[in-house]
Amino acid sequence: MSRKPLIVGNWKMNGSFAKNTNLLASLSSVPNVNMVVAPPAVYLASVSAQLMNTSIVLAAQNVAAEGQQGAYTGEVSAVMLAELGARYAIVGHSERRQYYGETDTVVAKKCLRLQEAGLRPIICVGETLAEREAGQVETVVSRQLKAIIDNCGIDLLAQAVVAYEPVWAIGTGKTATPADAQAVHGFLRQLVTIYDKNIADNLSILYGGSVKADNAASLFAMPDIDGALVGGASLVANEFLAICHAANASFIG
Ligand code: PGA
Repeated sequence: MSRKPLIVGNWKMNGSFAKNTNLLASLSSVPNVNMVVAPPAVYLASVSAQLMNTSIVLAAQNVAAEGQQGAYTGEVSAVMLAELGARYAIVGHSERRQYYGETDTVVAKKCLRLQEAGLRPIICVGETLAEREAGQVETVVSRQLKAIIDNCGIDLLAQAVVAYEPVWAIGTGKTATPADAQAVHGFLRQLVTIYDKNIADNLSILYGGSVKADNAASLFAMPDIDGALVGGASLVANEFLAICHAANASFIG
């Protein structure tokens, strides 16, 4: 890995005050690795307090698409997340696209709200199994990423992170082979290069989908895989740390 590794733990709808405290107490910084955790919204404040004086950074799993204040029942705005100490927010996760109707347009709006608040979006893209089998991987991921570039401008990607997460690999124990993942990561970086080579060269493109301690190193050996978005394994301190250590081992500065 030539870009500084970024490892993001997406806790999804898991945790409790007690579990979070234990998990965080078992994490420690790993050289050359930017470590990020994304707890559920209700725990952001307490996790933020616990991360103070550590190098672990806070992320949100979601953000309101409309407005920063106002009549949007149930929503949490980017400005509010910034006030809590979050520096990133995940957008366009396949679970949100699948269960909550998050379209490319909504994802782009969320990116704009994050940009207003100075937060960095972690933009998830990825194909379903049916789309892969139909040979549509590049069509799908380029549609998803271009929707962001068209609506927010290429400069957004100077502040953003892209996560390639094949939907069929999330939480299933199936991982894309390192070569298959690299092919898509390389394609995404090439797509961004068409707009701006410097932004493309510096862009962190994470892989997500059943990343574990025992498959992380082979993924991180790929030239365009700059880290991981980790679900299940991020809830187990030793697994998450082992993934971070694998990232450090593959970093060639
Ligand atoms: P998983 O989830 O590691 O449990 O597959 C990854 C994700 O959804 O971000």
